[in-house]
Amino acid sequence: MLDDTPKDLKDLWNDLNTVVQEACAGRDLDAIRNGIVQLRSDYKERDLRGAPNFDSPEKMLAYAVAYHPAHSFAYLHLLSRRQFGRTLFSAMQRPLNVLVLGAGIGAETVAMLRWLRAENCVWFRGSQLTLVDRAPWEDTRTLILDPMIRDSLQFFDLGIRPVLSDFSTPEGHEELKKLVPEADLILAPSLVTELISEHSEEQLHVCLLSYMKPKSRLLLIDHGYAEFRHIAKQWSRDFTDVLSTTDQCKVVINQPSDWIRRNLLVWGGPLTPVTSYHMTWCLLER
Ligand SMILES: C[S@@+](CC[C@H](N)C(=O)[O-])C[C@H]1O[C@@H](n2cnc3c(N)ncnc32)[C@H](O)[C@@H]1O
Repeated sequence: MLDDTPKDLKDLWNDLNTVVQEACAGRDLDAIRNGIVQLRSDYKERDLRGAPNFDSPEKMLAYAVAYHPAHSFAYLHLLSRRQFGRTLFSAMQRPLNVLVLGAGIGAETVAMLRWLRAENCVWFRGSQLTLVDRAPWEDTRTLILDPMIRDSLQFFDLGIRPVLSDFSTPEGHEELKKLVPEADLILAPSLVTELISEHSEEQLHVCLLSYMKPKSRLLLIDHGYAEFRHIAKQWSRDFTDVLSTTDQCKVVINQPSDWIRRNLLVWGGPLTPVTSYHMTWCLLER
């Protein structure tokens, strides 16, 4: 752990490492390591193969080890250190209906709730979170997300609704037609690059444009790939652009715990831990 890591990020990181270790200990670690190797290769080749599919519990745990903590850390870094939280929630100080698209385990949910708790945002009480994904993350969320947000759920008296749906299918479109008009805030974290690799981002764009209610907000946040920046720029023409980065923000990611490094991430090859992310974001209002 870097000595100068601020306390909120340090606490988040330690808690994530603990829940990930507890979820993995006693399981087939070889299968989880293979899952990480597979995911790294899927993401590297995503232009050829499309986004990875999460078709086994081990692959989901592999995501929990190799991506979820680093994503949660990067999102909290942006919310707190880059003052992004204040802008995101400005003019929204009442219970919110938050819709998360491509929620996975819920890295953005962890980061958002940590930030709202730290800022004592009592106005968030009674809000609703809907977590949509095409993969059945429920069991992994029980292991990894639930222990991280249990206190916040109580404090904010939150309701969480999981929805299984693929946006690129006609059924997924029908589901979004119901969910999007209800939402005050829509988060799409690390999703758009996956849609781009399957050529389905335009369907989501059309759907959001058609069904988002006036003054509702959409946050696109992703790794700073050129194709994401291009899409974010295109989409921003149809909305009011509240805050966008044209640059990439480099977030230095702490090293995982000794146990995780020793058992699941070893130095060298595709199992090397992530050391930094370049993030880009775009906050749009309808
Ligand atoms: C990179 S993960 C991001 C997870 C989480 N938001 C985070 O930031 O760590 C992308 C998620 O989007 C989901 N996803 C990809 N394409 C989708 C689609 N067409 N419909 C619904 N979910 C999709 C994947 O199953 C995966 O859980």
